[in-house]
Amino acid sequence: MAVVVAFLSQKGGVGKSTLARSLGVVAARLGLKVLLADLDPQQRTLMRWLKTRADLKLETPLKVQAFDTPAAALDEGEGADLIILDLPGQISNVATSVARNADLVVQPTSPSVDDLHPAVLVFQALERVGMGRDKLAFALCRVLGEKEADATRDYLTRHGYGVLRGGINERLGYRDALNLGRTLVECKQANLNNAAQVPLLDILERALSRRLSDSKSEAKPQPAAAVKT
Ligand SMILES: Nc1ncnc2c1ncn2[C@@H]1O[C@H](COP(=O)(O)OP(=O)(O)OP(=O)(O)O)[C@@H](O)[C@H]1O
Ligand SMILES: [Mg+2]
Repeated sequence: MAVVVAFLSQKGGVGKSTLARSLGVVAARLGLKVLLADLDPQQRTLMRWLKTRADLKLETPLKVQAFDTPAAALDEGEGADLIILDLPGQISNVATSVARNADLVVQPTSPSVDDLHPAVLVFQALERVGMGRDKLAFALCRVLGEKEADATRDYLTRHGYGVLRGGINERLGYRDALNLGRTLVECKQANLNNAAQVPLLDILERALSRRLSDSKSEAKPQPAAAVKT
C-alpha cells in the first residue's frame, strides 16, 4: 500500500504546490514510484508545471495527474510507493477526510503572525477529528532569515506541533527555478538545492516511519492456542 503525504493549508500561496512537486522529484530520485496528484481544479499548478517541463524537454521521473476527488487519486496510486496530494488553499470536509487517511499531513506556513495563527487553527481542527499530532508537521516556507525561522519554530513548537528540519528561504534562485519548470532541488545554485532537501527528506523519513509503526501495531500476535506444535 502506498504511503500518502498530503499538503494542505487554509492560506493560499504558502508553498503547498512547490513542496509537493519538489518532494515528488526527491522521492523519484531515491527510486520510489511516485504519483503526484493535483487536486486543485481552480489552478492546476502541477499540471501546468508538467507541461512547462515537457515544453522545455525536462524529464519528469514521476507520474503527475489531475483528479477531481482525493478518492480517485488514492485509487489510481494503489500500485505506487508514494502518493503526494496537493490540495487547494482552503479547508473543506474533503480535505479533512483526506488528511485523516494520510500517513503525514504537511502544512507549509510563512513566518508572519497573520499566517501562523490560522495555520495552528487548521491543525487543531484536524486533532478534533481524531488526528494524532505525530501525523502533523509544519514546513517553514518563504522564510527571510535564520532569526525569523527560529522565532517561527518556537511559536509552532510552543503550540505543541512538530516542525520539519530546516526550511525554505524566500530566494530569487528558487523563484527563477520554479519559473522554468524546475523544483526546489533543481536550482542552478547547489546550496539552494541542498537546503531544500533537508525538510523534504524529513517528510519522507516521518511518513515512512509512521507507516512502519502503524503496521507494527496492526500486526496481531498469533494466539497461543492456534500455534501447532
Ligand atoms: N522559497 C520561495 N522563494 C521564492 N518564491 C517562492 C518560494 N516558494 C514558493 N514561491 C512562489 O510562491 C508562489 C506560491 O507558491 P505555491 O504555488 O507553491 O503555493 P500554494 O500554497 O500551492 O498556493 P495555493 O494555495 O494558491 O495553491 C509561487 O509563485 C511560487 O513560485
Ligand atoms: Mg497550490
